[in-house]
Amino acid sequence: MNFKDVSTQRRSINFFDSDRDVSEESLNDLIEMAARAPSSFNLQPWNLIVLRDQNEKERLKALAWDQPKVVEAPVVLIVLADKSGWAEGHEIVEKNWQQMLDSGSMTAEQREWFLNAAKSLYDWSPEANLAFAVKNAGFFAMSLMYAAIELGLESHPMDGFDHEGVRKEFKIPDKYWVPLLLPIGYRKPGLELHSAKWRKTKNEIVVSFHK
Ligand SMILES: Cc1cc2nc3c(=O)[nH]c(=O)nc-3n(C[C@H](O)[C@H](O)[C@H](O)COP(=O)(O)O)c2cc1C
Repeated sequence: MNFKDVSTQRRSINFFDSDRDVSEESLNDLIEMAARAPSSFNLQPWNLIVLRDQNEKERLKALAWDQPKVVEAPVVLIVLADKSGWAEGHEIVEKNWQQMLDSGSMTAEQREWFLNAAKSLYDWSPEANLAFAVKNAGFFAMSLMYAAIELGLESHPMDGFDHEGVRKEFKIPDKYWVPLLLPIGYRKPGLELHSAKWRKTKNEIVVSFHK
């Protein structure tokens, strides 16, 4: 499938086939394909909570404007953006540092430079922590949606939910922001999709403020 097909076939699906499960193998493929997404310094500040249990999905639905797709989709991903994913001592930061040393892309003498660079970019305000986490997790989430199409799956990004309520219900640590929920599954058979929604044109997208 070429990218034009992937990008036009991806739609936010409201009606999932609740009788058709997503295999663990497909879920693994989906996550591993999406994990190719780019990230700042390759820090990959994202995690997923995978919900399959009906009762857990009901608890999430109650906090997500009662949107039925949360229980109809066989899998719901809670996408997590790690606001601390740049900091010295963080498990992935240290793993990333070791990988950079092993691959020769950094030398031991550059450690202070690397840690200070990340801190100065991502820790100058609470907004900078949040922006770091959410922009990177957003790329990952977009990759999940496109990878789903390649695997014959469908998805629906959702931010219609009670952020603090979800954090509390699923015991999500403070270091995370929850940018979106992502139901994943197969389209309910026999349903016609509405025609694709409008998009801004190139002229509406491109702006200039300096001339
Ligand atoms: C971050 C984000 C949050 C969204 N939240 C919801 C939501 O809570 N409920 C919903 O029905 N659609 C939600 N949508 C889906 C959008 O309405 C949809 O992407 C948009 O209308 C374009 O339609 P398409 O995805 O089918 O092309 C969300 C989309 C994004 C990217």
